[in-house]
Amino acid sequence: MGKPKVVLGVSGGIAAYKACELLRRLTESGHDVRVVPTAASLNFVGEATWAALSGNPASTEVWESVHEVPHVRIGQSADLVVVAPATADMLAKAAHGLADDLLTNTLLTARCPVVFAPAMHTEMWEHPATRENVATLRRRGAVVIEPAVGRLTGKDTGKGRLPDPEEIFEVCARVLARGVAEPDLAGRHVVISAGGTREPLDPVRFLGNRSSGKQGYALARTAVARGARVTLVSANTALADPAGVDLVRVGTALQLREAVLKAAADADAVVMAAAVADFRPAEYAGGKIKKKDGQEPAPVALVRNPDILAEISSDRAREGQVVVGFAAETDDVLANGRSKLLRKGCDLLVVNEVGEAKTFGSEENEAVILSSDGSELAVPYGPKESLADVIWDQVAPRLAARRA
Ligand code: CTP
Repeated sequence: MGKPKVVLGVSGGIAAYKACELLRRLTESGHDVRVVPTAASLNFVGEATWAALSGNPASTEVWESVHEVPHVRIGQSADLVVVAPATADMLAKAAHGLADDLLTNTLLTARCPVVFAPAMHTEMWEHPATRENVATLRRRGAVVIEPAVGRLTGKDTGKGRLPDPEEIFEVCARVLARGVAEPDLAGRHVVISAGGTREPLDPVRFLGNRSSGKQGYALARTAVARGARVTLVSANTALADPAGVDLVRVGTALQLREAVLKAAADADAVVMAAAVADFRPAEYAGGKIKKKDGQEPAPVALVRNPDILAEISSDRAREGQVVVGFAAETDDVLANGRSKLLRKGCDLLVVNEVGEAKTFGSEENEAVILSSDGSELAVPYGPKESLADVIWDQVAPRLAARRA
């Protein structure tokens, strides 16, 4: 089998320089990349850079090498087309099917998955014309990655930044791995909690847990690649922001509850991958707790935190909302999982065995997915992204069935 063929479309925005890094990641990970820049983008990055980094010619117009019919061939033979950055103008052309250069022609002839990574000023992104163009592209099956919030060209900040090239690469890799041009979570809003809560004792100490957040982040990345709008509620993680998610950072279980409930109000699915502390210190010491000579430390009194998963499951914000929980168990893993599924009232419970060297912080995971309909699915040891995809494989048909 040859290398997967990727077309990297580059349109004329300052973020074009970040596409060089995306190109490097794609070529270094074994993809055959053909760069198709627009004429305007060559003001930012020249043809020589694209040709040198990709090892392929980089043409802009349909009038070059006409005998090879490039405007048809490049699109037809691609396994993935990714446009990064995609300007407002490019989104408009793609939505309306204009074909006045090689990239827009390629978009019309491609039958493979297409990913757009828009970058522009906030006003342009929020303009009704752009909103409608993005909605049109998504309806037709393209994955349009939500821009990041942050510093834009000049002094202003807002939504419109191109996400990190590394994270755009992750979306491309997930879309290519699935190899289907129909994102099955398109039009769905999913809420994912990730990481581990910290319950403060005093300004410098907390009760915490060993969750790294990697499984929740893998769920967020795979959901973006499957076309979902994703709210990621992240508790105390040290991971790169995934591309295309609405990221809400929280610290404690109570903050996580508030953020998840708010986002869940219009969500199609909620996945509670976070390790939520069951207890918090009954009292918070406003100043650092000091040791006193000759005195034993005072015991720490704890109070229960609300069970967020049980609350969301019993009180669904939307009819047909699919709720997924996780269960971290050290003993009697499946038996405990089954009773936890009943107790929590969720639709699916992803059960994994945890231990010092298992699950927490690792890149891989194995699990059994228990369903409220009684079925069980064992997912073999593998990357957390693979488990995430299997979870979405279980969620997507449930969503489709309930809306029908
Ligand atoms: N969870 C939650 N709110 C809590 C505790 C846990 O929403 N206060 C969620 C977790 O996000 C996870 C699921 O419940 O999806 C199971 O978490 P786990 O720690 O395994 O279960 P517990 O309810 O804590 O049960 P136990 O400690 O008895 O094993």
